[in-house]
Order: sequence, then C-alpha cells, then structure tokens
Amino acid sequence: MSNLPGKRIVLGVSGGIAAYKAVELASRLVQARAHVDVVMTEAAREFVAPLTFQTITKHPVHGPVFEGWSEQARGHVSLAEEADALVVAPATANTIAKLALGLADDMLSVTHLAATPRGIPFVVAPAMEPHMFQHVATQSHLATLRSRGAQIVGPAHGRLASGAVGLGRMSPPEEIVAALDLALGAAGALSGRRIVVSAGGTQEALDPVRVLTNRSSGKMGYAIAQASLHAGADVTLISTPTGLPVPFGAKLVPVVSALDLLSAVEQHVSGADALIMAAAVADYRPATTADHKIKKHDGPMTVELVRNPDILATVATPGTLRVGFAAETQDIERNARDKLQRKNLDMIVANDARLAMGSDDNAVTIYFRDGRLLEVPTAHKDVVATRIVEAIAELLEPRG
Ligand SMILES: Cc1cc2nc3c(=O)[nH]c(=O)nc-3n(C[C@H](O)[C@H](O)[C@H](O)COP(=O)(O)O)c2cc1C
Repeated sequence: MSNLPGKRIVLGVSGGIAAYKAVELASRLVQARAHVDVVMTEAAREFVAPLTFQTITKHPVHGPVFEGWSEQARGHVSLAEEADALVVAPATANTIAKLALGLADDMLSVTHLAATPRGIPFVVAPAMEPHMFQHVATQSHLATLRSRGAQIVGPAHGRLASGAVGLGRMSPPEEIVAALDLALGAAGALSGRRIVVSAGGTQEALDPVRVLTNRSSGKMGYAIAQASLHAGADVTLISTPTGLPVPFGAKLVPVVSALDLLSAVEQHVSGADALIMAAAVADYRPATTADHKIKKHDGPMTVELVRNPDILATVATPGTLRVGFAAETQDIERNARDKLQRKNLDMIVANDARLAMGSDDNAVTIYFRDGRLLEVPTAHKDVVATRIVEAIAELLEPRG
C-alpha cells in the first residue's frame, strides 16, 4: 500500500512554465490522502494563482517568510518541523542553485534548510530549457543536492514550451508521486532487502506468430513488486509481456518463455533476500518451434509437447527465501501444501485460479513451512500484495 496516506508533504513550487503541472501533482497527492502544504516562490505566482493550490489542498499557500507571520499561524520553520517530506516541483535553475547554496530568503528555501537536516525524503523535479539544465552550474548544484540525499527525478526528454526539444521537461506528476512514495518507504520493513519477483504468463512459441500461453495477467506479481518497493526493497521484476506499467523504481527483466524465465532467475537471484515466483510458468512447451508460420491443412493437427524445467527445483538459492504460488482449481489446500514441501518453499500463496487470473481482486491463503496458515480474504490485489509482503518481511526478520 502507498506510504502517502496521512503524510504531511510540503510541495515547493518555483517559477517555471511547468508550475501548472504542479497543480496536478498537488491533486494526486491529495487524492493519495496526503496533507499537502504548498509553498510558492514569487516567480511561481506569475504562472499559477495560489488560489488554485489552496482550493485543491484546502490549506493556505505559503510564500514570503514574513507574510501573515505569527507564532500561532505557523512560524517560519513550523512547516519544516511538521513535514514528512519535501518535494520541489518544478524546480527552476534558480531555486536549485539557491537550495544548493543554502540561501534562505523565501519560505521555500527556509523550509528546505530547516527540514532537510531531519533526514526527511527530499525530492527535486527540475524543469528548464535543455541548455540551462546542462549548464555546469546547474549540474554541480544538482550533484550537491544529490550528495545531501536529495532524490532528483527527471527531467524528461521532449518538447518544451519554448519549442525546443531536449532534456528539460518536468517528469510526469505520477512519476514524482511514485518517487516520493518510494522515498517515504525507504526505511520500511524491506529496507536494504533485495527481492526478485516473477510475473505474468509465459509464452511458448509454436511458430513465429503463435504461442501457447495462459490467462495470467501479471497483476498479482506487479502488485507484489510495487508493495515490496513501498516497503523499501530493491526490486527486480522478471516479467513476460503484460502491458502493465512497470512500478517506478523496479528493475525490469523482460522474458517470454519458461526457459527465458529460468535463465533470468538464475542470473538475478544470487544474493537476493527473497525469490517470489508469481509468474504462471507453462509446464510444457512445443517440442519444436517452426521457423515459418505453420500452414493449415485438412484434418486434425497434433502438437508434441515436452516438459519445461521446474524453475524452483532447478535454481540453487542458498540463503534466499523461496515463495511459490499455487493457482489451482480443485483441492487447493492439498495441492498447495504438497507443492510447499516438494519444492522446499518457505511459504506458498494459494489461490483459486478461476477467480484470480485476470481479476483486480484476489483471495489467498498463505501456507508456511512451519504449518501455519494465513487467510487473506477477497481484496484488491494491491491489498493482498501488501499482506504477502508483510508475511515475507516477518520471515526475513530473524535472518538479520
Ligand atoms: C515565461 C517564462 C518561463 C520560464 N520558465 C522557466 C523554467 O521552465 N525553468 C527555469 O528554471 N526558469 C524559468 N524561467 C525563469 C524563472 O522564472 C526565473 O529564473 C525566476 O527567477 C525563478 O525564480 P524562482 O526560482 O524563485 O521561482 C521562466 C521565465 C519566464 C518569464
């Protein structure tokens, strides 16, 4: 689940044309149930009226250090003292320079100086003309901020308001929200852990245009990758083509077939704290893959299938927690417990394949090696994924 609900976010908006996108950013943060305090520079007010932010956040917008100052109505450092995170978006070249130098002549720069020594997440989203961004001064100021723990998001490549094309567009608000969410979870239950998750249904080629596959959507594996990221893990997501957006911060390893998946797991599992095999791996693949499209002919056609390797049985994972999935349509508990033992897993997540595959919701039972079980009733896969990740974090805890 997101780390944003209930968090107090200071959103610093400086004076670039991308200030209008900060409105959407504020809106997304509010929708994520964060409390958002907006601080605008004087230049930012030339681009967007404070009333817009005030209406969206339902809180007064701050600006000059002395404006409406009183001890009760939040002194110059009270915003900083209460903040759980500081985001500056868009960050102009001027504001980036000011923050790097430690100037403190408006509420945004004062809040930065007063808040960041507390070690709160600090996200900076630069937006400016490409030559301003590439200038050695801007680059050195960004390096300074990075060295102090700031997370620099973007800028993105594309067309700028001036008509120039290059590196300088503010990153999309959803990316900034995702980066902030990750930063807020950095000290979470999986902090410092490396998690490898497989997701999606494998595709076994018959010929260049046809595959044998299954109904797995990849949603459960992607939700587990996202929940692991939110809990502070370093996540490698080995995925078949799913069309799902890759969770921000995950390292994607694209695969197609079961054999691809096997070699990707072999390559990435070394040193991982947990391997979570949420992918639906084909048990069989065509014995041969035709070089050209197979032509139809009269009468039935027979395809010979051969066994795919059992990935969890094949890959050596010393010191890695092993989590399997059992998608069954009958005798779910018996099949799951059997697989748990046979594959020497630490835990197995069992679900009814007919309900789980493709759906946004899922209900699962988690069986543990020591005989315990945990029922997770029907809920959105994001919620189920969080429960699974919590269970993994608990199992990892005693391993140090
Ligand atoms: C139309 C217009 C667009 C601008 N866009 C940007 C921009 O995208 N990025 C930037 O760094 N500066 C931009 N500037 C320049 C800043 O507004 C200027 O450097 C200002 O002093 C920034 O103040 P601030 O950092 O306190 O907000 C723009 C100026 C104008 C007039």
